[in-house]
Amino acid sequence: MKRRLIVLTGAGMSAESGIATFRDSGGLWEKYPVEQVATPEGFDADPELVLNFYNMRRREMLKAKPNEGHRMLAELENDFDVHIITQNIDNLHEQAGSSRVLHLHGELMKARSTGDDSLIYDIDPLHCDIRLGDLCEKGFQLRPHIVWFGEAVPLIPEAEEITHGADIFVIIGTSLNVYPAAGLLNEVKRNIPVYLIDPKEVHTRRYDIHHIQKGASEGIIELKKIIL
Ligand code: APR
Repeated sequence: MKRRLIVLTGAGMSAESGIATFRDSGGLWEKYPVEQVATPEGFDADPELVLNFYNMRRREMLKAKPNEGHRMLAELENDFDVHIITQNIDNLHEQAGSSRVLHLHGELMKARSTGDDSLIYDIDPLHCDIRLGDLCEKGFQLRPHIVWFGEAVPLIPEAEEITHGADIFVIIGTSLNVYPAAGLLNEVKRNIPVYLIDPKEVHTRRYDIHHIQKGASEGIIELKKIIL
């Protein structure tokens, strides 16, 4: 029975692939007001602005490639029962070969009906914009299948369940600023080792965390020396 390795990733995991983080200097939220581009109110006020914000991020993502960190996490499936819980909306974990990836905040390559949450569509990389007038089969406008600020995070119960079963818990590239995702740390049993890979200090309430103060790829190399 392989040990269960649960990995919570954030924007820092994709930094080495050239995708901007949110809260580092020069991050995405410095350039775009969150209220306008990442809330339901912003979408209602100016749907075209919001659709274009995600169209731009989708085009940027389609140019990005998985980095060494993504690839090493996929390879760890040879030695562990790996579950990745990511806050990222890119599909770089999947492209690198990870087989169990849970997207807490949605997926850039999926569109959803604004009139029926159950209608979710894959976006064709060759026609990757969502435009005003793109409608679902019931005639409602399509929106990005992304969790905006103020919206529910439907996959949290499943993520908590996975976290409860961890034998090892690893956090990579997240400032742990956004709940409920950041709250998963409190769902890890007390006697389970927790590793945090981040080049900067990250403030958490848990004192017993092993901080590997490096970028994702270098940090995972160090992590492998410890857990393998
Ligand atoms: N390797 C690892 N970590 C890195 C790297 C790197 N190369 N570069 C930066 N980081 C770290 C930063 O130090 C920071 O702690 O990645 C973290 C990025 O934090 P944020 O920009 O806040 O991104 P994230 O934590 O994923 O944001 C959570 O907030 O905006 C919402 O929905 C959005 O999913 C996002 C959520």
